[in-house]
Amino acid sequence: MRLMLRTESLAKTFTLHLRGGLAMPVLRDVGFDVHEGECVVLAGPSGAGKSTLLRSLYGNYRAESGRILVRHHDTMVDLATADPRTVLAIRAETMGYVSQFLRVVPRVSALDVVAEVLLARGVDPDDARARAAGLLQRLNIPARLHGIPPATFSGGEQQRVNLARGFIAGHPILLLDEPTASLDAANREVVVEMVREAKARGTAIVAICHDEEVRDAIADRLFPLLPLQDAA
Ligand SMILES: Nc1ncnc2c1ncn2[C@@H]1O[C@H](COP(=O)(O)OP(=O)(O)O)[C@@H](O)[C@H]1O
Ligand SMILES: [Mg+2]
Repeated sequence: MRLMLRTESLAKTFTLHLRGGLAMPVLRDVGFDVHEGECVVLAGPSGAGKSTLLRSLYGNYRAESGRILVRHHDTMVDLATADPRTVLAIRAETMGYVSQFLRVVPRVSALDVVAEVLLARGVDPDDARARAAGLLQRLNIPARLHGIPPATFSGGEQQRVNLARGFIAGHPILLLDEPTASLDAANREVVVEMVREAKARGTAIVAICHDEEVRDAIADRLFPLLPLQDAA
């Protein structure tokens, strides 16, 4: 199986400017590999740094040291030191991210929120929206909501729009932050199926998932994270 994602000696410290520049180390010496078709679940208590790690992998946070190697167009690129254009290209083509909460953009319909990556790739708009509608339907978002901006949707509906948006493009690497946290059992089962299908296609997945049933259903391995001591 091909290596898709590798972190080496990754570290991240937040500087708390409101507290006199206090340094708060969150990640230290994090190293793990994810191969094609594999799902690694980040495990650890709240505050351990799981979301920080996922955001660092996506380039939302700059890693303070260490490497984040991503298979992009068949070469391993270090995202920790990549220029902004390369980071954007990796996000467009290689790595998808389902954040814990949907970032709501005013006036954009649910359908276009989901179709955005395909539209940006130049896919025919009718085809892109048809695929978006299919995914939304699969996640039990009724057709009458497809044309409405998700700002007024419930938490669970927004999460399903976010999932459809993350899964539509078939990125070879997917990062999932609590993808089933506000879903009912039936929709959790749909998400488990979607993750399994993605793995079967060879997608490498890093997930945060507190629901034990879902975790057991999708995880090939757990990667444990523990909270670091605050710097003195
Ligand atoms: N942007 C930030 N600035 C300062 N501290 C942060 C920031 N993001 C997260 N933290 C802190 O880093 C620690 C880890 O947070 P997080 O990654 O959200 O943990 P988890 O997802 O495992 O619950 C927490 O103590 C949190 O308060
Ligand atoms: Mg978190």
